[in-house]
Amino acid sequence: MAHSQDGGGPLSCCSVRLLTSTADLVAWRRHEPERPLHFVPTMGCLHRGHASLLKRAAEPRSGGPSPRVLLSVFVNPLQFGPDEDYERYPRDLEADRALATAVGADALFAPSPAALYPGGESQLSRVLAPPALATVLCGRFRPGHFDGVATVVCRLLALVRPQRLLLGEKDWQQLQVLRRVIRDLGLEVAVEGCPTVREADGLACSSRLRYLGAAERGRAAAVARALAAAADLHRAGERQGAALIAAAREWLRAAALEEDYVELVHPLSLAPLVEARGCSMLAVAARCGDCRLIDHLVLMSRPPIVAIDGPAGAGKSTVTRALARRLGLLYLDTGAMYRALTWWVREQGVDPGDAAAVAPLLADLDLRLLDGTDGEQQVLLNGHDVTAAIRSPEITALVSTVAAHPCVRDALTAQQRAMGSRGGLVAEGRDIGTAVFPDAECKIFLTASVAERARRRALDLAERGFPVPPQAELAESIAERDRLDSSRAVAPLCQAEDAVEVLTDGLTIEAVLTALEDLFRERVPADAWPGPADLASP
Ligand code: PAF
Repeated sequence: MAHSQDGGGPLSCCSVRLLTSTADLVAWRRHEPERPLHFVPTMGCLHRGHASLLKRAAEPRSGGPSPRVLLSVFVNPLQFGPDEDYERYPRDLEADRALATAVGADALFAPSPAALYPGGESQLSRVLAPPALATVLCGRFRPGHFDGVATVVCRLLALVRPQRLLLGEKDWQQLQVLRRVIRDLGLEVAVEGCPTVREADGLACSSRLRYLGAAERGRAAAVARALAAAADLHRAGERQGAALIAAAREWLRAAALEEDYVELVHPLSLAPLVEARGCSMLAVAARCGDCRLIDHLVLMSRPPIVAIDGPAGAGKSTVTRALARRLGLLYLDTGAMYRALTWWVREQGVDPGDAAAVAPLLADLDLRLLDGTDGEQQVLLNGHDVTAAIRSPEITALVSTVAAHPCVRDALTAQQRAMGSRGGLVAEGRDIGTAVFPDAECKIFLTASVAERARRRALDLAERGFPVPPQAELAESIAERDRLDSSRAVAPLCQAEDAVEVLTDGLTIEAVLTALEDLFRERVPADAWPGPADLASP
């Protein structure tokens, strides 16, 4: 058998590269630095859930080159309690290699405990997972478990230095803990949670299912049924946590499973909830013989809403439209609504600055946003197709003035709320996260420097055949528009307290979209709102 020159272990053209020492790993990582590195940590005994993570990891992001995919297989002693199943945790490296090869992973890092923790475990520096997240739910029954997980993942990240870390949503609490540890320690890696893959009987795929004999396996499926029963009840309108919990418990009891917990919690803070309003999570842990099963159900009172605010020229329209398509949500272009009204104000020969003259035009405004055939939104106003006309420089110059009238804000905000009452949309504007949809699940403040926005505006004008003013003039008018939008009395442009700022200078549209999708997934699990890509994967 040939050996690689970088000391990366046995080399075979058709088998995943096996790396067993940290030196092997570091040498392998240094190759092909131009390709991003995506990392899937596991404890081995791989199943379909891992396969789907690995396939997801192989997908190129942000229009960049195809990534290299590394998975680790390491049964981490630090995350097992003294009476837990560390010794008998299933290990099958040959089968893991075969699966990793079959899904096209580039390398598999399988160190021994001595290779990963050369100074031994007792004196090892450890990461303390955030107590509010790590001592609830499973943390109550597995003290120190999440510290062990956080420690090994930080150790692995330091060695691997990937651009992206992929983790299953199945272990939701672990995902929340690790996101928080990575943010708190300022580790530069994007975290991606991936949908849970399930067996035919509804149980989430898990290496520990191997512990179950046939009869036990039949009983274990009650965990999935318990969650399904709670989901049915929630669909029927039940919002009381106690009732949802009781419905789930009934199934666990009937199957003689020993409950660790059934709790209704907030999916991000993991704090207990009395009622399932907005987005909540019913989390279950139960024992079936020697096997501990965990699962959860995300409950949403309506499909998600994404609010994208930001100053003019930050690229909101392009990004919002594409993001809506990626997430399978509708696109609500509120800026187009203000532009359409401005067009009507001009058409009617009304002074845009005169609120009293503009107000009567709102009474019989028939404003419709339709999905055009090419994915562009079509804007109809009182029967006129104004899609192109509302993008002219004249409208751009006047829209802030019209949009600043309180009567205009009230009328259009009411219309937008009505459009969003059933959720399931991405809306962009200046006050979406603050005034229109303050309860949006994901709020983004998309911005760029004035110079960058002036540069983009010049390109856009040139592309559309309009005269291009000097850069300084464009920058000045953009700064003036920012001033007007931010200082108006009603619904001024401002960042919602819970919005995340995304600065787009120097980023491609693809890179911005990837960042926004990651932010969305932090708040809305793929299990609760699968995007078109999730639905296509196995
Ligand atoms: O989820 C797992 O398999 C493990 O907890 C992890 C993240 C690989 C750390 O050992």
